[in-house]
Amino acid sequence: MKQYSKRMVVTHWLTLGLLVAAWFLGDSLSDARHDGNATLAGYLIHALAGGAILLLTLLRLFFRRKDGTPAPVGSGLMDKMATGIHHLLYTLLILLPVTGILTIVTSKVGSALMAGNAGLLPKKFTGVLAHDVHELLVNVLIAIVIVHVLGAVKHQFILKDGLMGRMSLRRKN
Ligand code: HEM
Ligand code: HEM
Repeated sequence: MKQYSKRMVVTHWLTLGLLVAAWFLGDSLSDARHDGNATLAGYLIHALAGGAILLLTLLRLFFRRKDGTPAPVGSGLMDKMATGIHHLLYTLLILLPVTGILTIVTSKVGSALMAGNAGLLPKKFTGVLAHDVHELLVNVLIAIVIVHVLGAVKHQFILKDGLMGRMSLRRKN
């Protein structure tokens, strides 16, 4: 096996798209709350995008188990690091939605959604641990994704070993 299976490739790139959307929606939501005009729909749409990431990640881990992964390109320390980063990315893709759900459940957002009353939405998340962790994990994820992308760029333009092709839908014979 020299490439990831097609369904692994599709879920990888779909996750990237959903992640950009969830990040943008989460940030706009936080800005709206600070300006005093957050809406229930804003929380619901962000939760849907984040929830879709969780489902897609669980599906992807199932595909990974069934289809396997191509063998590492090398066996050095850098390859061990790349594998470690992949595992960390999967962990974050699960923990982020989980802390998001916990933010809703353990804050007034939950009761506002249940009552359908935007007036109950919190102005601040003081003492809501899940929100602090959610915010922290967003920054950790961004940092790890940057390292991951820099690794891909290095393979593409410096090592020129065709690694990007392993995550492509175009099949090599
Ligand atoms: C990988 C998925 C997710 C990403 C990348 C993400 C990203 C973000 C970002 C960037 C923020 C703004 C942080 C801040 O400065 O306060 C945020 C806030 C928030 N997220 Fe998520 N999120 C994800 C999943 C979820 C899920 C699944 C839920 C709920 C079901 C959720 C609920 C929330 C809530 C309630 C806030 C607080 C918004 C506010 O400050 O008013 N998130 N998220
Ligand atoms: C422009 C952005 C991205 C590029 C160019 C990229 C590129 C790649 C490439 C080439 C691989 C295959 C590595 C190999 O064959 O060993 C890969 C794997 C992987 N990528 Fe990305 N990626 C990007 C964004 C992301 C994002 C946003 C995430 C998730 C947060 C992510 C998570 C992963 C994971 C978990 C793997 C390992 C797959 C496995 O073995 O199960 N990638 N990526």
